[in-house]
Amino acid sequence: MENEVQKKRILSGIQPSGDLTLGSYLGAIKNWAALSNDYDCYYMMADMHTITVRQVPAELRRHTMTQLAAYIACGLNPEKNVLFIQSHVPAHAQLGWVLDCYTMFGELTRMTQFKDKSAKNADNINAGLFTYPSLMAADILLYQADLVPVGGDQKQHVEICRDIATRFNGIYGDVFKLPDPYIPKVGARVMSLTSPESKMSKSDKDQNGCVYMLEKPEDILRKFKKAVTDSDACVRYDLAAKPGVSNLMQIYSVTTGESFEEIEREFAGRGYGDFKAAVGESVVEMLRPIQEETNRILTDKAYLQSVYRAGAEQAAKVAYKTLNKVYKKIGFVER
Ligand code: TRP
Repeated sequence: MENEVQKKRILSGIQPSGDLTLGSYLGAIKNWAALSNDYDCYYMMADMHTITVRQVPAELRRHTMTQLAAYIACGLNPEKNVLFIQSHVPAHAQLGWVLDCYTMFGELTRMTQFKDKSAKNADNINAGLFTYPSLMAADILLYQADLVPVGGDQKQHVEICRDIATRFNGIYGDVFKLPDPYIPKVGARVMSLTSPESKMSKSDKDQNGCVYMLEKPEDILRKFKKAVTDSDACVRYDLAAKPGVSNLMQIYSVTTGESFEEIEREFAGRGYGDFKAAVGESVVEMLRPIQEETNRILTDKAYLQSVYRAGAEQAAKVAYKTLNKVYKKIGFVER
């Protein structure tokens, strides 16, 4: 281990704010699993970010555990990836506070996610929602991550993280590594099945637009049958003119490995009915083994506990090294 070349480090996380969606799998977790051989990977359940929107406590706990089980079922081997729960490593809160003091009010005001979430939760525009980006910067900077795999909607948060790190380094020297966002090309943005202009999201009001990783096959098939297409009746990739069909093609391409041209050929002269059914079937088949494995792991509470405990311990080692350095730099007295 010691004389191994230092691998590049990756950190990412998903909020356990609901059941994982097909979008979380195709856009994130599936890609993460492919990275674990070449990178030093840290993946967390971002439960601290989740409480910026009001949660039912028992549900938050259930979603966190299910998310961990799903990470493992999707191929994130806990022997090769550090899997942990954000709130189990207090350094996140500690560095988050410090970084709050190096993040400007104006910068936070400009964040599109803050504007969107404030509009959606007008009765609960809390300070945590506002400083969400500095906590996320702490998540990333604590681990000196090189790359941060995220969906396109989180790119702005990685950019502000770089700005905060640059500002801090400018004052105190090279404390933080500047991370780069890592946005996968295919499957990066799975769109809603009913309004394909917007991202597939668990917070979407129309539940027919969102497919869940652990959803029953018949429900998945039904949702794909209802997916919005267009009046053109031709399976052809054209993101601007045919967002619904193009989204389904993207999904089908990831589940079957077929290129867009191959899909166009396969469904030439056939109706959307056939196409939508085929996409639904392919998703059900892809998810079947993951669902079985997630449910199996979920019954083994002792195993899950051993995974998140070991993960937190390993994460804390790295995180506290950075935090101690930061505390020293800013002038806190050593304990
Ligand atoms: N904000 C991310 C999201 O909602 C989740 C997240 C929290 C995250 N901390 C992170 C992602 C650190 C990458 C790195 O999707």
